[in-house]
Amino acid sequence: MGKTKIHFKCNSCSYSSVKWLGCCPECKKWETFQEIKQAIKPKVGFASKTEISLVALNCIESGANKRMVCDISEWDRVLGGGIMAGSLLILTGDPGIGKSTLLLQVCNSLAKKNKVFYFSSEESLQQVKSRAERLACFNENLLFSDQADLESIIAIAQKEKPDLLIIDSIQNCYTNQTQTIPGSIGQLRESAFLLMRLAKENNIATLLSGHITKEGNIAGPKTLEHMVDGVFYLQGEDRWQTRILRSVKNRFGTINELGFFEMTQNGLQEMPNINQHLIDQVSNSPGSMLISFVEGSRPLLLELQALTIHSKLGIPQRVVSGIDHKQVVLIAAILEKYLQIKLSTHDIFFKVGGGFKIKGSSTDLGIALALLSSYFQQPLSQKSIALGEISLTGRIKPINQISMHIKEAEKFGIEQIFVSKNQKLEKTKSAVKRFCNVYELLSLFDGG
Ligand code: TYD
Ligand code: MG
Repeated sequence: MGKTKIHFKCNSCSYSSVKWLGCCPECKKWETFQEIKQAIKPKVGFASKTEISLVALNCIESGANKRMVCDISEWDRVLGGGIMAGSLLILTGDPGIGKSTLLLQVCNSLAKKNKVFYFSSEESLQQVKSRAERLACFNENLLFSDQADLESIIAIAQKEKPDLLIIDSIQNCYTNQTQTIPGSIGQLRESAFLLMRLAKENNIATLLSGHITKEGNIAGPKTLEHMVDGVFYLQGEDRWQTRILRSVKNRFGTINELGFFEMTQNGLQEMPNINQHLIDQVSNSPGSMLISFVEGSRPLLLELQALTIHSKLGIPQRVVSGIDHKQVVLIAAILEKYLQIKLSTHDIFFKVGGGFKIKGSSTDLGIALALLSSYFQQPLSQKSIALGEISLTGRIKPINQISMHIKEAEKFGIEQIFVSKNQKLEKTKSAVKRFCNVYELLSLFDGG
């Protein structure tokens, strides 16, 4: 009898260990380890059985770069110009955010020119039909099934060769290729691996949907992100019905590209003019200052809101959202040091309008002006924008790619720009106010 090796395997996530463990270090489940006996194969050295032929890249045909473009331009832009043939992508987001709605709308549009298979493992075909009626999505090239068995899905896809395959959702599919329980991380990994092979070997673009778990990951600790070509998040914005589609990973396009949609009675409607929507929310009150911030390839016009109020506590509060709180504290310290204003005796509340999260030093000047505007209780013009960095010595410094910001701001009626004295600028129709250091900012306020 040959020699055997004993190891222990988690039946939830397939984590393997040489000794038995009570709690799995990967999926954190208890009592899931099982003993596995494995025959040790005799070593065969380096002798390889398959012959490998190596090729130079210029001998490889580059014709497979076909993209599927639909008439939802916000979707196409976030994907880097449409879905690439043969790519494996995942769309993720909280349950109920609108993933199935978006997928159905995209499929309906793509089915005008492509063969699309939609596997709805989560909902019955009646449910899918009632959504399709609501969205007026009917097309003969768009075929549905509620099958969740991955082997059967792969078999039909290999036979029929659709251009696009949708699996909604991957968490509800199961495969017999692994011993792990359905819904576990091991199942998910194996399913994604099988679909990756299907996509690459048959040139079938495959789009999966997946729910974010309570911890904020896609079904367990970011299990699929390294395996797929693109990861796209659909997120909701607080009070409005706005949905933001964000590319977090994209082998065929830029990351952090944003697409804006509004959830309506008839599905997701594109919001290509998001900056108009953002500008409409800006108020002409003390503490408000407009900045421009690039996400992906487009500048967003965002309102910074500051509230400074004399503190009743020994240690004043600093409550900041949407931006690194250390950046706000630092700018407040610079203003206190060089302008001799008593921000350290004030509570500071600070937020970025619209629920956006931003980072980077190009917003420094905007933060300083929002703080000063609230401190002096004097509003700055609603039609002005601040673009500059502030050094620890209080100097206002230039920023990169400023013309892109100015062009976008002027499209939406901005008439005044606050920048560094050393900022290089192309000709603009707006009034430009230049500042060398933070002292000069006081000229914008009466009695400052
Ligand atoms: P759904 O696409 O099922 O979400 P997910 O697949 O991410 O779980 O969307 C569910 C929500 O969207 C549900 O609360 C109803 C709402 N909805 C609309 O407001 N309008 C519509 O036209 C549709 C189809 C859904
Ligand atoms: Mg769904």
